[in-house]
Amino acid sequence: MISDQVIWASLPVPAFIIDPEDRISDVNSSGEGFLNASRKSVVGHPVWDQIAVDAPLEEAFLRARQQGTPLFVNDVDVGSGNRAPLQCALQIAPLLGHPGSMIMIVSPRELASRMTRGNTVKSAAQSAIGMAEMLAHEIKNPLAGITGAAQLLSMNIGPQDLELTDLIVAESRRIVKLLEQVEQFGNLSQPDFKPVNIHDVLDRARRSALLGFGADMTIIEDYDPSLPLAYGDPDQLLQVVLNLLKNASEAAGPKGGTIRLHTYFEHSFRLRRSDGSGHSLPLQIEIIDDGPGLPENIRSDIFDPFVSGKENGTGLGLALVSKIVSDHDGWITAESVPGQTIFRLSLRRAPREVAGQDKE
Ligand SMILES: Nc1ncnc2c1ncn2[C@@H]1O[C@H](COP(=O)(O)OP(=O)(O)O)[C@@H](O)[C@H]1O
Ligand SMILES: [Mg+2]
Repeated sequence: MISDQVIWASLPVPAFIIDPEDRISDVNSSGEGFLNASRKSVVGHPVWDQIAVDAPLEEAFLRARQQGTPLFVNDVDVGSGNRAPLQCALQIAPLLGHPGSMIMIVSPRELASRMTRGNTVKSAAQSAIGMAEMLAHEIKNPLAGITGAAQLLSMNIGPQDLELTDLIVAESRRIVKLLEQVEQFGNLSQPDFKPVNIHDVLDRARRSALLGFGADMTIIEDYDPSLPLAYGDPDQLLQVVLNLLKNASEAAGPKGGTIRLHTYFEHSFRLRRSDGSGHSLPLQIEIIDDGPGLPENIRSDIFDPFVSGKENGTGLGLALVSKIVSDHDGWITAESVPGQTIFRLSLRRAPREVAGQDKE
């Protein structure tokens, strides 16, 4: 039998016991981290002084306490004295055997999770991209004309003006590159589903990264050799991994860094939709880098188109990743602290009649 103390200390989410007078009577170690304060310094203090919840909770909380029923609150901003508020879900329940005491679990919403935001973001992104695609098409032709004209001019001018025509040509190239990325969205067809060996995809991406944009990086393979086949479009999945490797390499900068490609099987991982349907996403692929981490100001929007933390970025790399992953019925999340950024991709397993494998 595992002791309650061990379970309490191991809970990976902040948890608090609130006494009948609304004081903190215990806090687990995640909770100490959340408050950025030690257990000793908060126990006995009024809980709502330590934890600021941006929602009119009192009445519901009181009712839960009086009736001995649990209370769930989603998507509230929860602050704690010395830190910016985080969006969290609160789960509150009466503590068995201690009338009036409540246990409260605070789950910060997983960073940049694609699941909670559902389809609204996707369709907004889709129409922004549709518009951009049209523009891209319209701009490319005149741009080619401008570049050509600048090149012609450059043949008959002195060296100081040459700088200017070079600038026109270089900037035009940059725009063409951006437009080509926008057009990639339009060209993206529905995935051609087949059983895919994810390790082959990762190997191809790794080799191509090391020859090009990732030449300064060390890429470590940390594979689960027994991983079953995934179900997806190998070329599109390659594109996903390449975009993630490219971002990790760019974040590291010219001094380079280390990327770990980690695969594992997690059979309990399911995608659940609001309509109640769902399916299992047991194949996990993590791309982990040791760079500076996601910029604070854009971290919740990185999967949206045109969101970039780079001076010359297009903000389309992760938007394309997100589109491909959702076409695959998969899921992607990002977690980041300075020194460790993890993009985790969860995919379906190939159906056994296609893969010729044993039952799950
Ligand atoms: N591994 C990473 N480490 C740090 N920041 C990252 C990482 N991956 C993505 N980002 C941030 O997310 C932003 C959006 O990425 P992306 O959609 O690929 O656009 P782009 O690379 O063109 O800026 C990047 O500009 C960068 O600020
Ligand atoms: Mg990118």
